[in-house]
Amino acid sequence: MSLTTVHTVADLRAAVAKWRAEGLRVALVPTMGALHDGHISLTELARTHADRVIVSIFVNPTQFGPNEDFGAYPRTLPDDQKLLDAAGVELCFAPSVDEMYPDGFATKVTVDGGMTNVLCGAARPGHFDGVAQVVTKLLLQAMPDCAIFGQKDYQQLMVIHRFAADLNIPVDIIGAKIQREEDGLAMSSRNRYLTPEERAIAPTLNRVLADITTKAQGGADVGPLLAKGREEILNAGFDPIDYLEIRDGKTLELIGDKVSKPARIFVAARLGKARLIDNHAINPGIERT
Ligand code: PAF
Repeated sequence: MSLTTVHTVADLRAAVAKWRAEGLRVALVPTMGALHDGHISLTELARTHADRVIVSIFVNPTQFGPNEDFGAYPRTLPDDQKLLDAAGVELCFAPSVDEMYPDGFATKVTVDGGMTNVLCGAARPGHFDGVAQVVTKLLLQAMPDCAIFGQKDYQQLMVIHRFAADLNIPVDIIGAKIQREEDGLAMSSRNRYLTPEERAIAPTLNRVLADITTKAQGGADVGPLLAKGREEILNAGFDPIDYLEIRDGKTLELIGDKVSKPARIFVAARLGKARLIDNHAINPGIERT
């Protein structure tokens, strides 16, 4: 079956209704397009959970701050469609801004509390309100059996678990492992912003996180580890560092001393035009994905 692209909620629902009538399971992979191998791996994971895979492509204006890269964000629908077709995805949902937010749209979805006002929530006020709003809409529009999200945006994944449970949205939320380039850089659409010189520097983030992870698992104190890590990231040419922090892998509460439970180390730092984020699991085991 080759890829079909629809642009309206009505057409999306008609396609899903037909599959449901045939008794098929449906997975949704929400994206903002500019697809890369990381996204394709999400569709492959989706395929293991469902008979039909939908990829939504929508650069959601409500999750970008006024001085962020909404205008510059790469929009590459024809290339994305080719990749999805080659990956065997059945349906691409690519709505317009008017389709998602028609005149009179007035509803917000806010996840309160410690999970949204730290890390990217502190650096990008309002970001997770926009994510919660658009993902709630996408889940209710498609009503898939499951939806797949990458762990690179680990905080986003935790926020989505939270509101999907709080709002009783009957969709299984599934986290997918971070996909990395050969030199360890986490795959991201924003890697396209990097110059060749910056691209050579970018894997520093993964190296520093891996080093801190090993030492934290070995029982080292968190404070000095993070101080040294910050120095290495700044020396490599990143500026500023929005955060380099170790937090509980489930609640995202700060861990200030030694890491004795499942946790994550998170980083966000700017390199030229790109703001890169990454994270690693520390003492993995019972954390939620
Ligand atoms: O992770 C992303 O690409 C976006 O935040 C998402 C989940 C598609 C919502 O716009």
